[in-house]
Amino acid sequence: MLTIGNINLELPFMLSPMAGVSDLPFRLISRSFGCPLAFTEMIDVNAIFQKDKRTAHMLSSAPDDRPLGVQLLGNSESQIPVALERLSGHTCDLIDFNAACPSPKVTRKGKGAALMLEPKKLRDILAALVRHSPIPVAVKIRAGWDADSVNARDVALYAEEAGINALFIHGRTKTQGYSGTVDYGIIREVKEALSIPVIASGDNLSVERVQKMFNETGCDGVAIARGALGNPWIFRQITDSFAGSAAVHWPDIAQRVAVMKRHLELAAGHWGEKRGIGSFRKFFIWYTRGLHGLRPLRDRAFRAASREELLEVIEDLARFPGGLSRRKSDQSL
Ligand SMILES: Cc1cc2nc3c(=O)[nH]c(=O)nc-3n(C[C@H](O)[C@H](O)[C@H](O)COP(=O)(O)O)c2cc1C
Repeated sequence: MLTIGNINLELPFMLSPMAGVSDLPFRLISRSFGCPLAFTEMIDVNAIFQKDKRTAHMLSSAPDDRPLGVQLLGNSESQIPVALERLSGHTCDLIDFNAACPSPKVTRKGKGAALMLEPKKLRDILAALVRHSPIPVAVKIRAGWDADSVNARDVALYAEEAGINALFIHGRTKTQGYSGTVDYGIIREVKEALSIPVIASGDNLSVERVQKMFNETGCDGVAIARGALGNPWIFRQITDSFAGSAAVHWPDIAQRVAVMKRHLELAAGHWGEKRGIGSFRKFFIWYTRGLHGLRPLRDRAFRAASREELLEVIEDLARFPGGLSRRKSDQSL
């Protein structure tokens, strides 16, 4: 059980926010395999402030998409009250403030991981969120800015002082981006320093890695990101492992094809046919990762101009010689 404010999760794992990935179709697919909590991709407070149309679409949800966390990106406490007011018309059960994004486009503006360099400013923004938000508030931080400034423990303590309900930590520095290995030691230090739940992110790519994260850090929960790409079954596998099952269930080809078809249908419904096909193509690559000799089918998937054409390619996967092989458990992007 993991409790974040008034949100009670029977099992302590979730889908981590991923820009360009965590749309409603992917969240629904993940939830169908037992993912108990998911997040929107990060949304700039400025965009909410300006009632941006694209942002409204990013915030769209569905009854099966609960509880839902909305991830906010920003660097000014003065925008918080209006942004929260605008958000109140949308489904949102938890606010997660991003102090972790390493993209230079974001950090140049003093947002995302740049806030790791300004812990007091981050605390004040979080305090404003806590003051004005009727729902629980969390923050996502990194290990630090770079290897010489690993300050997650200090930042986490400032964040906790603001009155937030949970803290997410990606155990890599900003300069590491998504490369190198996750630092379990800094996550453990943060966990030991705080009394609010600490949810750990980084290299949670398989059931074994998730168990390692819990064992090495003592964290209260884990967030799954790249491990779920083309592999929503990971949520079923983690659920099974919590139930004490040592066997890891892998889908057969028929199940995999069925999920891909459902994902494509959801994407076309959410984005419209053209954009839905475009958005699904990257998932096609992920769902078929590790397969050899797939080039002709991938080429056809990239040329497919309609949902029907793409559905045919997916169905042809079932006839692929040798079928779809099992992913290597620790495979990453
Ligand atoms: C494509 C992609 C987009 C991401 N976008 C976000 C984001 O919008 N907000 C966020 O907090 N983290 C984002 N992340 C980071 C992940 O949530 C996660 O913390 C990170 O990938 C480490 O976990 P992993 O090693 O298990 O993938 C993103 C990661 C990827 C791969």
